[in-house]
Amino acid sequence: MPLDIVLGSQWGDEGKGRIVDLLAAGAHIVARYSGGDNAGHTVTIGDDIFRLHLVPSGIIHPDVTCVIGNGVVVNPAVLLREMDSLAAKGVDVSPDHLKLSKQAHLITPAHVALDGAQERRRGQEAIGTTLRGIGPAYRDKAARKGLRAQLFAEPETLADAVHEHVAECNELLDLYGEPLLDAAAIAAEFAGYARRLAPYLVESTPFLNKALEEGQTVLAEGAQGTLLDLDHGTYPFVTSSYPTAGGALIGLGIGPGAVRRVVGAAKAFTTRVGGGPFPCELSGELAGRLRGTGEHPWDEFGTTTGRPRRVGWLDLTILRHARRVNGLTEMVLTKLDILSGLPELAVCVGYELDGQRIDYFPSDVATLSRVRPLYETLPGWEEDVTNARRPADLPENARRYVEFVARNVGVPIRLVSVGPAREQIVEGW
Ligand code: IMP
Repeated sequence: MPLDIVLGSQWGDEGKGRIVDLLAAGAHIVARYSGGDNAGHTVTIGDDIFRLHLVPSGIIHPDVTCVIGNGVVVNPAVLLREMDSLAAKGVDVSPDHLKLSKQAHLITPAHVALDGAQERRRGQEAIGTTLRGIGPAYRDKAARKGLRAQLFAEPETLADAVHEHVAECNELLDLYGEPLLDAAAIAAEFAGYARRLAPYLVESTPFLNKALEEGQTVLAEGAQGTLLDLDHGTYPFVTSSYPTAGGALIGLGIGPGAVRRVVGAAKAFTTRVGGGPFPCELSGELAGRLRGTGEHPWDEFGTTTGRPRRVGWLDLTILRHARRVNGLTEMVLTKLDILSGLPELAVCVGYELDGQRIDYFPSDVATLSRVRPLYETLPGWEEDVTNARRPADLPENARRYVEFVARNVGVPIRLVSVGPAREQIVEGW
């Protein structure tokens, strides 16, 4: 009864979607466990590029059942748009293939409006959220007044709940001097979503546990990354959920005994979107070189917001933090191809704080902004690596780079991606 977890080891955007797509070939169920449409998972198959925000990345596999778990916050308008665009590409998004936990919480236009209003009020201290209403929706959940997807099966209760929710949000919007929202219009909109989404509702915890008891493999798909975790990330510059391995258990209602593999996806360098400290951040020409120009879908511009990502050298202190917090059993290194052509590669092997070397990732941003990264320089490689499929196909320095990372993080690297296409994977380490 194995549960395999795929999660982000850095600040999100590690390429989890394509790894989930790859591992989904050996799974019966793929279940998203946290976050909402702040995520942007890209899966490239031939000429088709699937950009998924809410639907699990296993959806492209016809034999895999996809579940949006209880830990996810769901904007139904976005979910339906995504389902329609998948259906237009011939993907099966029927209730046999896609299920929505009754316990997942809903994001409403009022949550989206509050997210924007609160970011504007933060001014210089803005978190740089994706403005998708994620924080306000999780806040309502924690305050025990959220709207659960279950309401789609109870049209009358849904209408009352939406009215009450919008009235309360309007009080806050009024306080912030923002335009007020029309509760009746939102209730009518949600009645329409309920008609379409009610058939997808599932009692997800028994569904997933029964599958595990029957020996099926469940793949838990993370969103965002360890450093965006509400507790273990760079608080307050984090998201409002738990992208870490513990979040997978809570976000799906599965006990730790079922876990077989915890796969940490890590990019071969580091990126972050939004505000907050970033010890190994680069600027200037080198940053531009790693980021790309934005003309390719794989360049470092947000899948959800289009914002240019901040970029930096690979930081092993971050990856060791991810190993500890998540109990990683293995890692997947993505985008190794982007490093081709750089004469030398710096890798952050530790931090110095007030003249002392520290072996942990500080939990508060004030301390983190004072650390000095300590680098080791590794030789780069000139060759194009996009056609490599086995470690022996890689130039020696590229292989050494991967092995250096694995050794210094303390977990094996099983797969390395060398391009966006499904087959551009180096296996056999
Ligand atoms: P929120 O999740 O929209 O509230 O945004 C909080 C922080 O998390 C911001 O810095 C966002 O840029 C970041 N964030 C949220 N989702 C993602 C993601 O999928 N990839 C990278 N950063 C993200």
